Amino acid sequence: MQKLLIKGKRNLFGKINISGSKNASLPILAGSILFEKVVIKNIPSVQDISTMIELLRFIGMDCKFIKKKNFIEIKKSKKNINAVAPYKLVKTMRAGVLVLGPLLAKYGKAKISLPGGCAIGSRPVNLHLLALKRLGAKIKIKNGYIHAKAENGLRGNTIKFPKISVGATENAILSSVLAKGKTTIHNCAIEPEIFDLINFLKRRGCKIKVIKRKISIKGVDKIDSNAKVHNVMFDRIELGTYIIAAALSGSKVTISKVNPKIIKTELKIMKKMGVKLLIKKDKLTIFKSNKIKNINIKTKPYPGFPTDLQAQMMVLMTRASGKSKIKENIFENRFMHVPELRRMGAKVEIKNNTAIVDGPSNLSGAEVMATDLRASVSLVLAGLIASSQTKINRIYHLDRGYFALEKKLKKCNANIKRI
Ligand code: UD1
Repeated sequence: MQKLLIKGKRNLFGKINISGSKNASLPILAGSILFEKVVIKNIPSVQDISTMIELLRFIGMDCKFIKKKNFIEIKKSKKNINAVAPYKLVKTMRAGVLVLGPLLAKYGKAKISLPGGCAIGSRPVNLHLLALKRLGAKIKIKNGYIHAKAENGLRGNTIKFPKISVGATENAILSSVLAKGKTTIHNCAIEPEIFDLINFLKRRGCKIKVIKRKISIKGVDKIDSNAKVHNVMFDRIELGTYIIAAALSGSKVTISKVNPKIIKTELKIMKKMGVKLLIKKDKLTIFKSNKIKNINIKTKPYPGFPTDLQAQMMVLMTRASGKSKIKENIFENRFMHVPELRRMGAKVEIKNNTAIVDGPSNLSGAEVMATDLRASVSLVLAGLIASSQTKINRIYHLDRGYFALEKKLKKCNANIKRI
């Protein structure tokens, strides 16, 4: 099994280009089921994307993915559609459940494995199912699978989410663009990746309007399969991760191919902590920070601070003078990185869903184990500032979502290698 070896305490300098967003690509790829043909650019070549492509091929779509160019062409193949998402694919990537809406909308049926739990929480899909039932789908759960049917097509309706969910909002959008009549979805997630999905669909003739947390959709019968190539947005979580890497150990790092306006909350918090930044239209430069200050933050749906950056932020907090707090409001079990960070010398206490980080601490290298995607990258960040060597096990989690992590860090003078 592959491991990462990091020799810490190197000064980072240089340039990093941010890849396309994994979380924007996944619902757009699932949305390709609605069309005869789509062409998408800036798809990151990471494991979750390969899993989604494998799923689309299993369903019966022809996918031509040119990894080097981050380009994919997806066509409906001549084979019969197999409206199924099997357990072996959904268990490794919960976003597999996003094919449920498009399959029902286009083919009137779908059989999707229930995703089950994962390291960060129970990951239920009740909100996805609520949306589909409101659109007239008949749903049964049997043998670990969701069996959904809409023999006479889906019908527009009002959907009121009791809780904000990114995936359920995406499934609701994907299933109502072809439904008969109008759908209004209330209490939606408004993550930038959802706007990327909406732009992808609108360019292909779908009728979608967003006002605050309300999304209105007018179902259409025909969608445009000759629409322009869609260019996926940048990965804002990858951006946040590298800003933190640079703030921890950089002397001058410039990060390009981004839109800093999308991460206003994160930048405001980092500036408050004393991170020195120069913000331009499509790039950011991070300079050596003299002193990092403590802060209290809470994870929230966008535009709040993202849960996907919580673990990385905790490493920055180990550098701050005094006590910092992070309240995790999205997932119930998202402090799996804490015991590993403690082994490296971080002083972190957990009280319910709040982590209290007492800093500054000098971290020291250790052999640690990655537990999920963002927890893994927090261990990489810790390794970059720790004395001596850090060995990270189970790095397949990292490969699910970070494209060319070692290459990007090495180019900035980090001593990191895969063994
Ligand atoms: C997406 C992101 C993930 C991010 C998360 C929160 C993708 C592929 N993944 O995941 O990286 O951490 O948003 O920003 O985009 N919930 C329910 N019932 C449901 C669905 C969700 O109770 O049917 C709960 C979840 O358990 C969680 C909360 O709602 O507590 C938010 O989850 P959700 O926004 O759905 O996350 P994902 O779409 O799975």
